[in-house]
Amino acid sequence: MFSPQGPSPRELAIQAMSSVEHGYDLLAPKFDRTPFRTPDGILDATAGALRPLGPFGDGLDVCCGTGAGMRALRPLCRGRVAGVDFSTGMLARARGAHPDAEWVRADVRALPFAGAFDLAVTFGALGHLLPAERPALFAGVHRALRPGGLFAFPLGAPPPLASGWYWALLGFDAAMRVRNALWRPPFVMYYRTCPLSAVRDDLAAAGFTVTTTPLAPLGRRQDDSPRYRLVLARKPGGS
Ligand SMILES: C[S@@+](CC[C@H](N)C(=O)[O-])C[C@H]1O[C@@H](n2cnc3c(N)ncnc32)[C@H](O)[C@@H]1O
Repeated sequence: MFSPQGPSPRELAIQAMSSVEHGYDLLAPKFDRTPFRTPDGILDATAGALRPLGPFGDGLDVCCGTGAGMRALRPLCRGRVAGVDFSTGMLARARGAHPDAEWVRADVRALPFAGAFDLAVTFGALGHLLPAERPALFAGVHRALRPGGLFAFPLGAPPPLASGWYWALLGFDAAMRVRNALWRPPFVMYYRTCPLSAVRDDLAAAGFTVTTTPLAPLGRRQDDSPRYRLVLARKPGGS
């Protein structure tokens, strides 16, 4: 949630009229006091679901922001942990909070790693990529992992048509499309462009074997379906 120490509406508006990279540079000092930082409940549920599949060697947080994902990643990994993001401001905060991790500045559409990690995670960032950009991200994560490595991330179920959230997210995405049609540079952030079926297809096309598991601690919807699933994309190979 937003707090009085979080960004003002004016600061948010300036951020939203910037590029994604510069917008996050501006937001970085107050990012941890916004609802955009992944909540600890989601991080803990992810770590809980991954624990029985580990321990892992080296771990990577893709679009790490200020380093929230370290809470999940670090206890799962025996080796080094790293985060990658293109915002210098966000990386500076991450480095301050977790000086013992490795922080790499790069665009995740062209990840600069090969066979270097056993576990990759990402939280709250897929909406920043257009659907046409996902294959490059997934190919880069696949390349970054060692054979048998795992790429895991939580994905929320789309809200039902009758809920207020459905219309709120539809409205947000529509406003973003208008903004991006009228203003340069674009700020790409869409909530409704990552349905599980499309994400699954793109991961499979990148060479992953894909399964999902419900994140039980995050609850169920009225129709009894899980509120969140953990997507588990395994790079074939390994022992
Ligand atoms: C909503 S924040 C999420 C941060 C963190 N994962 C969390 O859950 O708190 C999205 C992050 O993705 C980063 N990002 C977006 N597009 C990116 C790209 N193409 N390459 C690298 N980082 C990107 C932004 O700089 C930002 O730090």
